[in-house]
Parts: sequence; C-alpha cells; structure tokens
Amino acid sequence: MKYFSLLAVLLVSQQVIANRNPVPVYKNKNTPTELRVTDLLKRMTLDEKILQLNQQTVGDNNNPNNKGYKKPDFPAGIGSLIYFGSDPVFRNTVQKRAMEETRLGIPILFGYDVIHGFRTVYPISLAQGCSWNPALVAQACAVAAKEAKLSGIDWTFSPMIDVARDPRWGRVAEGYGEDPYTNAIFGVASVKGYQGSKLSDTYSIAACLKHYIGYGMSEGGRDYHYSDVSAQSLWETYMVPYEAGVKAGAATLMSGFNDISGIPASANPYTLTKILKERWGHDGFVVSDWGSVEQLIAQGVANDRKEAALKAFMAGVEMDMVDDVYTQNLKKLIAEKKVPMSRIDDAVKRILRIKFRLGLFDNPYTPIVDQRYLQPESKAIAQNLAAESMVLLKNDRHVLPLNDHIKQIALIGPLAKNQADLLGNWAAHGDAADAETILDGLTKEFGQSTQINYAKGCEIDGEDESGIDEAVAVAKKSDVIVVCLGERKNWTGENASRSTIALPAIQEKLVKELKKTGKPIVLVLTNGRPLELVRLEPLADAIVEMWQPGVEGSAALASILSGRVNPSGKLDITFPLTTGQIPIYYDMRQSARPYAGKYQDISTDPLYWFGYGLSYTNFVYSPISISAVKIHKNQKLTATIEVANNGGLKGKETVLWYISSHASSISRPVKELKYFEKEEINIGGKRVFKFELDPYRDLSFPDADGKRHLEAGDFYLLAGNQKIKFELID
Ligand code: GLC
Repeated sequence: MKYFSLLAVLLVSQQVIANRNPVPVYKNKNTPTELRVTDLLKRMTLDEKILQLNQQTVGDNNNPNNKGYKKPDFPAGIGSLIYFGSDPVFRNTVQKRAMEETRLGIPILFGYDVIHGFRTVYPISLAQGCSWNPALVAQACAVAAKEAKLSGIDWTFSPMIDVARDPRWGRVAEGYGEDPYTNAIFGVASVKGYQGSKLSDTYSIAACLKHYIGYGMSEGGRDYHYSDVSAQSLWETYMVPYEAGVKAGAATLMSGFNDISGIPASANPYTLTKILKERWGHDGFVVSDWGSVEQLIAQGVANDRKEAALKAFMAGVEMDMVDDVYTQNLKKLIAEKKVPMSRIDDAVKRILRIKFRLGLFDNPYTPIVDQRYLQPESKAIAQNLAAESMVLLKNDRHVLPLNDHIKQIALIGPLAKNQADLLGNWAAHGDAADAETILDGLTKEFGQSTQINYAKGCEIDGEDESGIDEAVAVAKKSDVIVVCLGERKNWTGENASRSTIALPAIQEKLVKELKKTGKPIVLVLTNGRPLELVRLEPLADAIVEMWQPGVEGSAALASILSGRVNPSGKLDITFPLTTGQIPIYYDMRQSARPYAGKYQDISTDPLYWFGYGLSYTNFVYSPISISAVKIHKNQKLTATIEVANNGGLKGKETVLWYISSHASSISRPVKELKYFEKEEINIGGKRVFKFELDPYRDLSFPDADGKRHLEAGDFYLLAGNQKIKFELID
C-alpha cells in the first residue's frame, strides 16, 4: 500500500511541475511543423527575430573573392553560419552555445559550398551534364550530403543552375551548360540527392538553387556585371531550371550578384516575391549572395546600407549573407514604418520552417563518426560519373581505344602529372593528394604490357619552350602520343573571366612540335569551360574532353583510353570554333536570312554543337514512329525510335528528343530539347527509346510574363539524324 501511495505522490507532483513549466509547443517534436513555427515566433523578441535573418562565417574563408567580412565572434543566437571547417566537435560546441545559452534555444543553420563533392570530389557540374545520367548525379550528391552532414553542414549552396552561353564567364563550370531543360533535370537530381526523401533524414542537407536569376548573362562574360535579360528570355531560358527546382522542393534559393536589366537580382520584387513566393508558392527562404545586399549601393540602386536593407528585404531576400546590413538597419526601418512587422514575421517563419524540417531543433548536433570520407562506394560513384561525363570528340582511324599493339605510350603535357587542377574549382575540402595523376592512372591501366614514357613538355602557361625537345624525343620512341592539356582550376569558377577561351600558345606550340614526329596524337583536355580548339583539332587524331573530373578522374580516363569503358558523354554546351563566335548555342532563333549573315573570316558553325559526342561503337537510328500524325491539345503523342548497336563494343547511347515549331505568335528557337534517355545497348543489340510528348508541357511556350501559350500548327520531332512531322490541332 505504502508503495502505491508513494507512486501516486510522485505522479501528482510530476504533473504539478509539468503544469507549472509546460514543454513549449515548439519544442515538442510530435507537433506539426507549422504549429511549432507559429508558437516559437510569438515567443521571439524583435532582436531575436532580426538575428535569424543574419548569416556570418566561422572558420578560415577559402574563397579569395570574399575577404573582409570575418568577425571576431558572432551572437550565440545568430540564424546561420557559413562553416568553412569540417570538425563536427567544434561545430557542436558552437551549436551548444545557441541551444543552451540563448533564451529560446534556436539552432544555428550551418551552410557551405558543397558544389561537386565535400571530400570525395567528383566532376564539375558542367561535366556532370555531359553524362546525361541524372540518377548517377543524384547518387553523387547524396555522397556529398553525407560527407558534409558528418562534418557539421546542414545546408549547401548548391545546385548552381544558371544557364550559361558565354564560356568567357568562369562560372560556366558550375552549372549544367547552355540548355534550360538540361539545367532543370540536373538541378532537380541534385536537389533530390542532397535533400533525400525528407529533409530530416540522417544524411539530408538543404539545397539552395543559385544564383537566382540570369547571372549567366553577365555582359562580356565579366563576372558580377550587368546582365541584360529580356522578359522573354527570362522566362524562356533562365526561369525554367528554377521553376523545376522549386517544384522539386528545394528548401532555399540564393539571390545573385547580377543586375537584371536595371533591377538587381537581390532587390527584384518580381522574381523574388511575385514569381517565387506568390506564383510558385515557395515556402522556404532566399539568402543573399555574399555581400549582395550591400552591393546594391555599387549597383546604383541604393544610396546607403539602410536603403540597401530596405530594397533587398522588401523585395524578398530573407537572409543577409555576412555584410551585417540587416542587423544594423532593420530595426530603424521598422521604427520608421518602412518595414512592416508582417514582413519580418514572414521572413523569420520561412527560416524557422526550414530549421524545423531539417530536424535541427530535435537533433541539433552532428554525430561523431570516424570513417567519413572517400569510402570505396563513394569513390566508385565518383569514378563512374567521371567516366560517363567524358566526351569523345574525335577518333580518326580508330586511334582509340589504345590496343595491345601499342607497346610504348608517350604521355606528355602539363596536365599529365597534375593533381590539384583535376579537382576543378569549388572543390570544398577536396585534397589534391586524393587525386591520382593521369600518369599513375595510365600506368595502372597499361603498365603490365605497355611502357609509359613521360615528359612534361611545357607548363600550363608562360613562354618556356625548353621542355619541348625532350617531349619530342620521348614521342619519337613511342607508338602513340597522349598529350594532356588544359586549364588551371582557378581559371574557371567565381571571378574567373577570360577574354579568350583558347589555351595558352605554349600548349599549342607543344602539340605542333609533337605533330612533326608523325606519331598518332590523342589529345586529352582538362578544363572547366568550352575551349577554342580551331588550331589544335587538326593536329589531333583523337580528342577526349575529360573536364575537371575529380579524385577518380585519372582512373576513369585510363579505362576509356584502354577501351574497358566505352565513352558515352555528349556535350551539354557548344564548343565555339573561336572566341569570336560567342555567344553561340544550339537553341538560337532562326536568322532573317539563313542564307546570309555569315562571318566573312571564319565559319559560322561551331566546332562541336551541344549534344555532340562519339562512341567506340556505332549506333544506327531507325526512323521515328509516332502514335498519330495529328493530335489535339489534350492528347499525348507517343514517339519511339529504335537504336541499333552495329559496332564492335557494347555502349551507352543517349537519345536527345527535340521539338521544332511552326511559325508562332512569339518566334521559337530552331529546336528545343524536351526529353532524353540513356541506355546501354549490347553488341548487335537494339533498343527502343520512347518519348511520351505532352502538348502543354512540351509544345507550349511562355510569354514575357511566364504565361504559357499552346498554338496549333505543324511541329517536328527530332532525335539523332531522324525527324518527323506531326500536327497539333485545336
Ligand atoms: C560566393 C558565390 C556563391 C557562394 C557564396 C558563399 O561569392 O557567389 O556562389 O555560394 O559566395 O560562398
């Protein structure tokens, strides 16, 4: 009896204590997110709310373009930090201060640029698009998310989905090329890879679509510059990947540095609120780019920081990255009734919502595990993606793959024994030592039966020709020359604009001298942008575009040169013949005089079009068959094409399905990519590829405010070398 009375006393007293100090609704993980958000918001002071709208940095900033904002410390209740470190213990210490030394215990959101890998660096995004394998890209992003999460990161500033058609612009390396649909598909794949099935999953991190919007139109390829984006091209080209990414559930977006035809991206109410929030219903938040709020002054739309804060915040930028403009000005603007509390509360709710969805209130700390990086399965994904991203651009006389008759390979060039530049820009915590050199990769692949004779030949740039003679001598005693040319990793990425996309003359000079030996030349390119190859292409018998392939790139290249892997990449960006042709891209408008308007001094065609890529085998496309020659607007059209592999190797083929349109109320590009599929086809085998065309999705076009129009008339469907006409009727 005594025991029961004791238990009863305990239970009653527990209830009394609970009633006196109830667990706040926002701390109850079984409560729906929106109730937790609302409950927490009403408990917050104005100062606490404004802190959530602010992001500072912690750790050693590894981006040389963004110095000058490092603070000695930051408030315990700050909304977010860019975490440049990778130590989960330190990160947890900082988080603990927020959880236990602030009044409400709101967790900090730790962000970082995990662009193409955290430590297991895989190919740059421009290369990934050439794989036409979004499922594999999603796997790679999931690897990056896990390595980042275990290093204290909850949020990546990725994917970058800025359609880019000016390869002088260094950031062309960070997106998925020149085509809106391609950027949409790979942007969505990246969002799914990072965010998993739900944000609160153990290894999920929040994605960030960037740089919203039109940044790729930077005038003259000069980074941070004005972008003259017409309302029509805003919708036709630049909005496409962002609409897809938002609909795929991307948690956040980042507003860009660029001025969009007079209204900067970081102060643009039309893009940031009318479209993103009101029309697309995005309920996450927008973070500014680094200092892009303060930069509104330089861009001539704000006289001072206070006006910059007003314009950015009221346009729809919720979080201010590192320049402290919001923390120093929002309170004044509220007092002056220029910023309503309703806008403050909406912005804070958006940030809290993502923190709750990530599970940060319930699991604020990073688990401490040992084996975080470079796991075998992670490296395998990186190698597969590198191999599938590489593009065979030329293969005269089947010089490739290098067969058993080859007893001596001359491996030459400034990239042949290089490690760091193979990682590319934005390589996060990638370590050059993790990247095997091409020399090591080829030695492993061929070393048993073939002698590799190495000579550097020349540096990546400069005028020193003293190494060329040795390279020529090495070439003369070998059966084939593999010459590895390319760019430094910092020649692309942020603030890396170049006036020419040609390689330095010293590299061309090396190949010219090697050509005199009469030996077959295989040119391997390591670069982050399309290159001007007009002088190099005739000198090479084979050309492999390797891009900046990451830690497993050399093994991937070696597997292609040996024929163990049949190259399957196709370009996601056009290679101009020369810099002078820029901009040139596949989905241009038709000229008024197609028969004229040519360059007087060079061809008007590029060297390689978007979608170009060779295989070691031969794929033959049958004529396209369609389910009907006439369809109504509410009727789908099924198109099929059979592809036969009549070459000597199995291989993967990507069928790119394009449409081209009749005369319309708004002129249409000469053709537009609407679907693609990649499949492996065995030797002698055939595969039927199918495209289920939906008229509203695939045949409509936007006007200058994004309204879709679908107009009856004749259309063509194109795939490979095949084309078929069908009619859309009302
Ligand atoms: C940089 C870049 C942006 C990056 C951000 C944080 O300036 O423009 O892509 O995510 O700052 O590092």
